[in-house]
Amino acid sequence: MYRDNPLKQLSWEDYQKLSVNERAPLFLRNEKPYHALFAQQYNRPIVERVCELATRIRKIAKTRGGMRFLQDLLAEKRAMLYFSQPSTRTFLSFYASCQILGIKTAEVRDTATSSEIKGESQEDSVRTFSSYFDLLIMRHPTKGFAERIAWLLSNSERPVPVMNAGSGADQHPTQALLDMYTLQRSFEKRGGIDGKHIAFVGDLARGRTVRSLAALLRHFDGVKAYFVAPDALQIGSDILQVLDEAGMEYEVTTEFQPVIPQADAIYMTRIQDEWDQAQESRLLDTSNYHFTVDDLAKLKSDAIIMHPLPRRSEIDPEVDRDPRAMYWRQVRNGMWVRTALICTTFDRDNEVDRYYEDLIR
Ligand code: NCD
Repeated sequence: MYRDNPLKQLSWEDYQKLSVNERAPLFLRNEKPYHALFAQQYNRPIVERVCELATRIRKIAKTRGGMRFLQDLLAEKRAMLYFSQPSTRTFLSFYASCQILGIKTAEVRDTATSSEIKGESQEDSVRTFSSYFDLLIMRHPTKGFAERIAWLLSNSERPVPVMNAGSGADQHPTQALLDMYTLQRSFEKRGGIDGKHIAFVGDLARGRTVRSLAALLRHFDGVKAYFVAPDALQIGSDILQVLDEAGMEYEVTTEFQPVIPQADAIYMTRIQDEWDQAQESRLLDTSNYHFTVDDLAKLKSDAIIMHPLPRRSEIDPEVDRDPRAMYWRQVRNGMWVRTALICTTFDRDNEVDRYYEDLIR
């Protein structure tokens, strides 16, 4: 655990007055991400480092000796997976990452089974977790809750790291990192992510994965984003402001078809109607924001199709057979990226480098 803890000097009220950019450095230790809370924490070197590490871990894990090395890397640690919102992939990939690194896990996925049902505050529940565990991975419906917990624990005697596995309709930083890894691997032989055109399609107002990913893309040169959605579901002005400040080019449009041939990556999303107050988005006709088999012919031959999943009908399952469909690859990449991030948090990434260098020698 780190002794220099900038969050200790701040009251929660003062913390909340800070802009996202001012908050970002508070969650780093030795220039490395300690808490993983929102995408604006990560600059280009951090994104590239996590990707490099994910690849090294992926290669090390191919051999039995490599797996043994990984299993021992954090074998003395325990992690708590606290998911108070539904999850399949994020939960399982974090769980698998912990297994790869030898970290023991426990989980609460239904707050009805914890003392919250007796009226205990969520803050007290989480503080209890920190008494028994060394890492807290959490998904929560409230925007900013993971930040609140990181602040709270930083001011306790057990300032364990917090990883945000999805917070409200706001942020999903580890998904954004795995999406960057997928983009980087897909464009490896075409100059990387720089200069690529990325189209986001669907519910951009409440799609937290899009919000986080757009914030990371601004660090790359010459990237252009298309935000393709009905007006009611368009991307938030806060994210556009982040892109404006970075001088990143983007286009906001309701028309999907003209964008398809321009894109190097199409990032499809589902309508997040669980956030509806009065079924309003269920009443929208969003069929123009579906990717069909016919659309494949309009797509560049080397473009890719992404989706954070789960999908409904926005990508025809027939599309899965096309080599440009990258969403199942994304799922697996999530495991490697989360493993890399956990290694970085605990400052064991240099051990991975040493093992890797011996491996390729
Ligand atoms: C997303 C999420 O939970 O934000 N899924 C994921 O983590 N891969 C997307 C969604 O729920 O639509």
